[in-house]
Amino acid sequence: MRWVQTVCCREIHGDGKSGEILVRDARGDFSPWHGQAACVYMDPPFMTGEDFYLHMRVGEAGWETGKDALALPAYRDKYESREAYLAMLRDAVENARALLREDGSMFLHLDSRAAAHARLLCDGIFGESNFVNEIIWAYQSGGRSMKRFSRKHDVILFYRKSRRQYFDITSVPLPRSENRQNHMRKCVDEDGRTYRTIQSGGKTYTYYDDDPVYPGDVWADVSHLQQKDPQRTGYDTQKPQALLSRIIRCASRPGDLAADLFSGSGTTAVTAALEGRRFLASDLCPLSLAVARKRLLDTAMTVSAPTLETPAFLSAQIIPGIAYHDVRLLDYAPETGAVQGLDAVDQWSVGFLRDGVFYAQANAARRKQTPALPSLLQLPQLRGTPAILISDVYGERRLWRLEEDEK
Ligand SMILES: C[S@@+](CC[C@H](N)C(=O)[O-])C[C@H]1O[C@@H](n2cnc3c(N)ncnc32)[C@H](O)[C@@H]1O
Repeated sequence: MRWVQTVCCREIHGDGKSGEILVRDARGDFSPWHGQAACVYMDPPFMTGEDFYLHMRVGEAGWETGKDALALPAYRDKYESREAYLAMLRDAVENARALLREDGSMFLHLDSRAAAHARLLCDGIFGESNFVNEIIWAYQSGGRSMKRFSRKHDVILFYRKSRRQYFDITSVPLPRSENRQNHMRKCVDEDGRTYRTIQSGGKTYTYYDDDPVYPGDVWADVSHLQQKDPQRTGYDTQKPQALLSRIIRCASRPGDLAADLFSGSGTTAVTAALEGRRFLASDLCPLSLAVARKRLLDTAMTVSAPTLETPAFLSAQIIPGIAYHDVRLLDYAPETGAVQGLDAVDQWSVGFLRDGVFYAQANAARRKQTPALPSLLQLPQLRGTPAILISDVYGERRLWRLEEDEK
């Protein structure tokens, strides 16, 4: 028996139905999903002129200490001209609109560099009357400037596809402690409920302390990911799940599809799965797929991206059992790259190849909580050719199938 490297374009976990992650240009063809998404969130490059990286931890020691991470180039936020950037954005926004159901919504996340141009562009594509909100996401992180007011907010443009828009603000009540309206007169009614009153324009307004309060269009209560946040993947520009959770809850129902065409580390997909929604997450950068794949390993997803043909060395044993085979990973060597051996493995899965599709049955990945990579996985005895998929520290995915030795 020997492991032979092979290529497949589709990888299925569980029944694969919770969502799909793929490598695709946001300007590409998304026609199979047209008219299906309840919400599309997009966090494209902001026209910063900078390069962004995935800071990949390596091996057990690297995951334990956080030291010596590889800085792998993820994407360049550099465009020939503003026109070139806006042409890319236009195609992506047109794709987003086509993805939406009639009651769907789009959220386009930008900063002050491109927001004004994007607003006009989106007005043209969605129609001015379908503009819903300019959400200001205000945060404290980042440096301070003495030359101007420090730039401490992003802009999220919110458009609906039509007047039939679905929107449920009651799904995102704010915690009560933040709702105190201290400038108002505090009273208690005969049932013992505390309320506040204020007079304005000859009217008296009454607000009960235990009434739910909902966010306005300035979101200052969602913080950027801190250095040590357990959500952090090492992918520059990763957004917090709390931000996506608010968007997804308001703009979709459980079971609906949430899409993201610039998915980066997969925050939209991960949050959609946690909120019981399905997801479609795509990004141009294969490295981002490796990060999103790891965050979603326990989710019933489909991964649509070809595994690499460039060869790498794999040594693994398969030991037949009664209901399961034990598969032990012994050695791995990518063709290039300084990191070799099992330290070079970031994630691995065992499963079966059937009709050119890899069905993953068991997975292992290095994480902050589990820096050591299990080298033994159990493969249930099912129909198909046993196969091993490795995603390495360079973000490269390769697949091997088990082949009988020629007699
Ligand atoms: C700001 S990041 C998204 C971060 C993401 N929201 C997260 O939480 O990790 C922008 C992403 O857009 C991707 N990108 C840039 N140009 C693209 C294009 N034309 N099509 C698809 N993705 C693109 C980059 O690879 C990058 O992952």
